[in-house]
Amino acid sequence: MGTGNTPGGTFTTSEGISFTRMGYGAMQLAGPGVWGPPADREEAVRVLRAAVEAGVDHVDTADFYGPHVTNEIIRDALAPYTGVSVVTKVGSVRGANREWLHARRPEQLREQVESNLRTLGVEVLDVVNLRVGGGPDGHSAVPGSLAEPFGALAELREQGKIKHLGLSVVDAEQVAEARSIAPVVTVQNWYNVAHRGDEELIAGLAAQGIAYTAFWPLGGFTPLQSGVLDAVAERLGSSAKAVAIAWLLHRAPNVVVIPGTSKLAHLRENLAAAELELPADALAELEGIGGA
Ligand SMILES: NC(=O)c1ccc[n+]([C@@H]2O[C@H](COP(=O)([O-])OP(=O)(O)OC[C@H]3O[C@@H](n4cnc5c(N)ncnc54)[C@H](OP(=O)(O)O)[C@@H]3O)[C@@H](O)[C@H]2O)c1
Repeated sequence: MGTGNTPGGTFTTSEGISFTRMGYGAMQLAGPGVWGPPADREEAVRVLRAAVEAGVDHVDTADFYGPHVTNEIIRDALAPYTGVSVVTKVGSVRGANREWLHARRPEQLREQVESNLRTLGVEVLDVVNLRVGGGPDGHSAVPGSLAEPFGALAELREQGKIKHLGLSVVDAEQVAEARSIAPVVTVQNWYNVAHRGDEELIAGLAAQGIAYTAFWPLGGFTPLQSGVLDAVAERLGSSAKAVAIAWLLHRAPNVVVIPGTSKLAHLRENLAAAELELPADALAELEGIGGA
């Protein structure tokens, strides 16, 4: 991973894998509701190429986005993947009515890994996150053993189908259990300036040399809206979105962000966050946004 210019710097895990702290999230490159093709596929290809040209060295996806749609766009835009890694997720599938279904039995995970290999057009997957979670909002960690599903992925890694493993929507106990089975390079959870349930987890992962990848850095389907973000952005001559991303990059050295966008102009705005210094008074104001 790494292409020379590294927006926001890089974080190197205890396994020696480095991620540019500014990544890119491909989920919303699919159609509405993360289903079917996007309205403007050519723009989606341009966005992906521009992100990598700007130095972003990892793109987040899942074969259940579309389904298959974001992986196929990524393949068309980025194969043979020079200077960029693809981080995919397994553990879910989409139902016929567009529902998001858990699918974590070993045979289901093996199928999903094979499907990712096919749709991305590769012989080995760079990083595979086991997505767990659930709960009332569908995006919170739910305690429970990961031994069987993570063990199945560890076997696939040993067979050479996966280079590195990660986790998504998990708690500290689940990270510890997974690490007793195989190395974990990243944990991907919901975290942003208004949703901060994972402060302790981030610090714990930093001590273990694991990247914490913040999903929904801009609020996802419920865009972050805050007068404080707007006011800080205005003072700094920036945008509220860039300030929200810069806040994450200031949070801890192991925090990696994967903002998503389907538009080149938004991509440029988001990448600018890597250069945005937040003065102490701005950080103090942003601290007040808080939330769980
Ligand atoms: N592990 C998990 O369970 C999980 C769950 C959710 C998401 N994720 C990952 O996290 C990544 C990020 O999530 P996300 O894309 O849903 O949410 P996000 O990055 O928080 O926000 C993306 C949304 O913000 C808009 N946006 C982006 N930049 C903007 C800008 N500069 N100005 C105005 N609007 C802007 C985008 O619309 P435009 O297209 O119009 O720019 C899009 O609707 C996903 O791609 C996915 O890979 C993982």
